[in-house]
Amino acid sequence: MTATTITQLHPVPPQIGRALTLDDLVDLHAPRDRANPRVRANFVASVDGSATAAGRTRDLGGPADLLVFDLLRRLCDVVVVGAGTVRDEGYGPMSLGDDAVAWRRAAGLPDHPVFAIVSGSLGLDPTSGVFADAPVRPVVLTHDGAPRDARARLDEVADVVSCGHDRVDPRLLVRALVDRGLPQVHTEGGPALFGDLVAADVVDELCLTVSPNLEGGAGPRIVAAREAMALEGLSLDHVLLSGDMLLTKWSRRR
Ligand SMILES: NC(=O)c1ccc[n+]([C@@H]2O[C@H](COP(=O)([O-])OP(=O)(O)OC[C@H]3O[C@@H](n4cnc5c(N)ncnc54)[C@H](OP(=O)(O)O)[C@@H]3O)[C@@H](O)[C@H]2O)c1
Repeated sequence: MTATTITQLHPVPPQIGRALTLDDLVDLHAPRDRANPRVRANFVASVDGSATAAGRTRDLGGPADLLVFDLLRRLCDVVVVGAGTVRDEGYGPMSLGDDAVAWRRAAGLPDHPVFAIVSGSLGLDPTSGVFADAPVRPVVLTHDGAPRDARARLDEVADVVSCGHDRVDPRLLVRALVDRGLPQVHTEGGPALFGDLVAADVVDELCLTVSPNLEGGAGPRIVAAREAMALEGLSLDHVLLSGDMLLTKWSRRR
């Protein structure tokens, strides 16, 4: 456990007031039934709802947010990220640290989750570390209308999978991952991808960190969707506190 202290606010018993261990955090976030397909998302937002600070998330989170961010990677089968976030945040390969790898081995899981990138344009560099240094062959989730030359280049370094005619259909995306033996789906966004996932109602859980900042500006909210969708029925699983930062977890009530 790091020096970062996380205490639990909700539900009140049994853990209120004491610093949580890494095992506690695993218990709070681990899938109850790994065979049961679930889609989980993780985001951080400022108090005024901005999903970025100066165009990125780096200054929004903090050590506790990062701790949970890393933990959620270790618990899943596949990490799904939109190409915009991969480009904007300068993602590298989906490689976990030694502790997480040891934990996954002990849990009978492969060393690293699969990295799945969602892109229609296929504007992804096949020579980048995302692909070149990947411990597991990544998956690119695209659609039938994606540019053929870009697809041919990415075919060399990733499994390129079509999940729709002219756009990636979230339901086909989830089915494709489950069919590959990856039922615990975790997405790190971004807002455009999450908007599509929410609109298709495939999201089961949301881990949302509320960062004690007011950002203003024109940063996106965590759900970017042209249409209002008013998806109701989220239940609060827990609220954790680290300093002034709230770490919440919500589930879609079905
Ligand atoms: N606060 C947070 O927790 C958080 C998390 C993640 C990202 N962000 C921030 O969000 C910003 C990026 O936002 P964004 O909305 O552009 O990110 P995004 O959703 O990661 O990327 C959008 C791109 O992903 C692809 N895509 C997403 N859904 C698709 C679909 N259904 N079909 C086909 N392609 C699809 C497209 O890629 P192509 O253009 O390649 O076709 C699209 O342009 C960055 O500033 C990042 O820092 C914040």
